[in-house]
Amino acid sequence: MRPAPCRIVSVERDLPDTYTLEIEPPGSDWRFLPGQYTMLYAFGIGEVPISISGDPDDTTTIVQTIRAVGAVTDALVAKQPGDFVGVRGPFGTSWDTKAAEGRDVLIIAGGVGLAPLRPVVLDVLSHRDRYENVTLMYGARSPGDLLFADQLQQWRGRFDLEVLITVDQAQHTWRGPVGVVTSLIGRSSFDPDDAVAYVCGPEVMMRFTIQELERRGFGDDRLYVSMERNMKCGIGLCGHCQLGRYFVCKDGPVMTCAQMAGSCWIREV
Ligand SMILES: Cc1cc2nc3c(=O)[nH]c(=O)nc-3n(C[C@H](O)[C@H](O)[C@H](O)COP(=O)(O)OP(=O)(O)OC[C@H]3O[C@@H](n4cnc5c(N)ncnc54)[C@H](O)[C@@H]3O)c2cc1C
Ligand code: FES
Repeated sequence: MRPAPCRIVSVERDLPDTYTLEIEPPGSDWRFLPGQYTMLYAFGIGEVPISISGDPDDTTTIVQTIRAVGAVTDALVAKQPGDFVGVRGPFGTSWDTKAAEGRDVLIIAGGVGLAPLRPVVLDVLSHRDRYENVTLMYGARSPGDLLFADQLQQWRGRFDLEVLITVDQAQHTWRGPVGVVTSLIGRSSFDPDDAVAYVCGPEVMMRFTIQELERRGFGDDRLYVSMERNMKCGIGLCGHCQLGRYFVCKDGPVMTCAQMAGSCWIREV
């Protein structure tokens, strides 16, 4: 339960309200799995769950991308290199990449939901031969709201990754699709009987994405989502994160839709 004081190495502004922090890990044995999160403590203000958005093969820094929405996240993004934050974790379940081996992979993100998915993109790309077609679909409000724009550009240049991006609204300078992220699903080539999807974004976006994938024959057990709930302890003790019969902090945040079915989340949010 005790946060380890960790030094901030860098703070980079991604979007007007979103920043990526690189933090020194608490020890040389620090590792994480794509999809896991830490509890980040702004000393004297509070502690919040934040996903790890960096490369799982890089154990020299903890990379976390934070959207400032309230007291704690405001304080975290105002930190400077050399400042300290408290870190607990990594906690939670991960995107199950083993389940995708030998199959098509769909990685579908909305808004800041790309942050928890970036480690899975990096992991899949560093073991690219294990997978069939790999597609990243990403939706943001406007071209100016695209997270990791430089990296998206770089990924677009690869022949072994299909990158489809849409925005809700755009000026005439935008050459890509305009519309919700679900509209990209029909543009991608994948075998719904033999593909795995990882989905993260606002709950309403995840709900419509899942409905569309199910309509195309995707099975619930091959559809992974990352859930967000208010958290306090992060380790299954306090009950703050309860969702149906699960504690999202330890049974999640990554869960299959097959698991979620009993919680009625997919169809009722
Ligand atoms: C597993 C997990 C991973 C997360 N990963 C990230 C991440 O990578 N980057 C990131 O920017 N944020 C992430 N979040 C959300 C982040 O934890 C909240 O934004 C943060 O707790 C808000 O705290 P605050 O004190 O700054 O704002 P508060 O004053 O507590 O809240 C500000 C506003 O945000 C809403 N809010 C608070 N917590 C949540 C939540 N968990 N989900 C949805 N809305 C919320 C409140 O209702 C309120 O409207 C994650 C949450 C979870 C559970
Ligand atoms: S946050 Fe305490 S039980 Fe999940």
